[in-house]
Amino acid sequence: MMGNSIELSEDNGSRFCGKTIPEEIVIHIFLYVPVKDLIRSATHVCKYWHHLLTQYHFWFTRMQVEGYKLSETTKQRLLEETNETLVLRALQSVCGNYLHLNKNLILNPSGIDGFQHWMVRHGGDKMIVEDTPTGSDLIPEEAGLPTQHCFVTSYIASSRCQVVNLEHLGLDPCVIDILRPEIHISEWVSARWDCHSKSTIAVLLKGADDTQQVDITWNSRTDDVICRQWYKATAD
Ligand SMILES: *[C@@H]1O[C@H](CO)[C@@H](O)[C@H](O)[C@H]1NC(C)=O
Repeated sequence: MMGNSIELSEDNGSRFCGKTIPEEIVIHIFLYVPVKDLIRSATHVCKYWHHLLTQYHFWFTRMQVEGYKLSETTKQRLLEETNETLVLRALQSVCGNYLHLNKNLILNPSGIDGFQHWMVRHGGDKMIVEDTPTGSDLIPEEAGLPTQHCFVTSYIASSRCQVVNLEHLGLDPCVIDILRPEIHISEWVSARWDCHSKSTIAVLLKGADDTQQVDITWNSRTDDVICRQWYKATAD
């Protein structure tokens, strides 16, 4: 972190039209400047602005303005980290929404683009995509899908597989390690009115030195399932 003794001179970014602008005001303005402009431009303008923009406090406040909330454990982990560059990068990534947080990381999740982005193994009469479910109700709004498309399997199991590479999405592994964002896994499933259905979601979470597997199974023969209806199969 830079020292506190920043000299106020004519051109140090705290003066505007000959008047000195109080620090709180400069910070307040920064709270509403797009994050990418703060990182790419503002921080290079002068030492004073750089100093303001390398304070953790500024980024924590910015996070509040953006409506993001870190858990106490994450906050603690950030405050205990000695690599300040890493902490700043993590905070800026959250503020600038560079982390694909609160987003579905699965591409073409319901088949609007056919089988694009999926590796498919067909069984029986093959897996197909329907643009509206046949023999099942409409997919509920709660599923958050922009369309009624859905993948439909046949009388023998089919499978589809997709690899999500966080690094290819532009996520710095160090930032992911320190923030440890939660990963939620779920799928909306249904059995049509005239036959039963089973589904298994198998997720392999591959880290640099550790792999974890999560399996979620759903079976319409189990008691509570009503055919035609949609269910959210989830790990929680
Ligand atoms: C601090 O973190 C940055 C950003 O992740 C990284 O590039 C750098 O190597 C780290 N420095 C140390 C001393 O570990």
